[in-house]
Amino acid sequence: MARLVIVSNRVPDVSEGSGPRAGGLAVGLADALLPGSLWFGWSGARVAERSDKIRSLVSEGVTYATIDLAEDDYHAYYLGFSNATLWPLFHMMPSLVNFDRAGYAAYRDVNEQFANALLKLIQPDDLIWIHDYQLLGVAAALRRFGVRNRIGFFLHIPFPAPAMFDLLPPAEELLQGLLAHDVVGFQTGQDLGHFLSALRQRDIFVQGHDARHDGRLVRGVVTPIGVNAELLNRLAVRAARRVEARRVVDSLSGRALMISADRLDYTKGLPARFDAYGRFLSCFPAQRRRISFLQVAAPSREEVEKYKALRDELDYKAGAINGEYSDFDWVPLRYMTRAAGRGLLAGLFRISRIGLVTPLRDGMNLVAMEYIAAQDEADPGVLILSCFAGAAALLPEALLVNPYDVDEMAEAINAALLMTKEERQERHAALLAQIRTHDAAAYSRSFVSVLAQGACGSG
Ligand code: G6P
Repeated sequence: MARLVIVSNRVPDVSEGSGPRAGGLAVGLADALLPGSLWFGWSGARVAERSDKIRSLVSEGVTYATIDLAEDDYHAYYLGFSNATLWPLFHMMPSLVNFDRAGYAAYRDVNEQFANALLKLIQPDDLIWIHDYQLLGVAAALRRFGVRNRIGFFLHIPFPAPAMFDLLPPAEELLQGLLAHDVVGFQTGQDLGHFLSALRQRDIFVQGHDARHDGRLVRGVVTPIGVNAELLNRLAVRAARRVEARRVVDSLSGRALMISADRLDYTKGLPARFDAYGRFLSCFPAQRRRISFLQVAAPSREEVEKYKALRDELDYKAGAINGEYSDFDWVPLRYMTRAAGRGLLAGLFRISRIGLVTPLRDGMNLVAMEYIAAQDEADPGVLILSCFAGAAALLPEALLVNPYDVDEMAEAINAALLMTKEERQERHAALLAQIRTHDAAAYSRSFVSVLAQGACGSG
């Protein structure tokens, strides 16, 4: 079998011999990462000057190879074009987009730097699987260098509607970059549809999900990422018994816990979510003392201006809710701006009556799936989910809400609190079946099987 080479901006945090720390992409790829596989990306370190030095570390038979980023590239490629241009635009928030040519030039350079490093690492039969919006141009650089391997790409975030995509000054070049792959994968049918429409508008030949370009076939696929439901459930059962979770239960004095856990990111819809909670408290006064809302918000990309502004806005809104509704013995909102470990979070999901996941736009949203996996099937909680999360396509039995509609979200919180155990069980059973079908193993298996098709000889 061909060796799998994973390429992503970040590589999982591995310390010698301990295996990858379980997180989103690492879980999604766990089944595909066989001994002998290679994972290449940025070390997370910043150095004064660009350097082509590659560091390697082997853990459980998998080689993790990394390069450092130059300080200037960190600003222009990572904070700049990746996270201040592509991130808001692909999430269809054009008013938050910052574009400058220097940022894009650095992005191209860093993508080429990745390709250069890969040249030293790959063998002719390797299957190369590149991940996410930070690396749209790596395959095109590899092709320029003469690489003929099968190369796949998976976009973890949404692909925007063509009218939005066209706002990007280098839209054309980025699309050409995607066409340098053999397989391009998306989270949802809508994302794939947007991509194919963007191609058609440029008179690129598209038939079904395939495009033909420069004599090559580019296959579009929908392979949603998932979680390992059994593993997560075990983690949740264990964590819910531990002292940290027991202390949270004690602190509730019998009230229902509602939980949200996100990166502190404007795409996650936190300000409208706080407004919805405030609306709920004001419109359903009889329910007030029956609930406590815990928002865990892990700081992210703090050097990007828009993220700082978001933090200030949330500090203000959280203070306003607690100022208005707190009682001597009850605080309605617990708002934490720090990360919680995956184990503890799974335990907290399990003891929560409501999981509130309301991004304005999201590629998939694994928190929604983790919340389902963590539940006690005999007495499960209710998932309230944004209809604009990729996960909504797979999870219609959640209470689906429009994250821009504060009243609708407030009503959904009320409905979730009042929902009978029978209805909770029914909905949860259907949701669990879905996340078991579309789990992490299915994700990597289905993508790699398409990537491997035609690997022998057809180039
Ligand atoms: C999203 C993106 C990932 C990214 C992650 C964390 O999930 O799809 O590509 O790695 O956020 O963001 P960061 O900027 O810290 O890598």
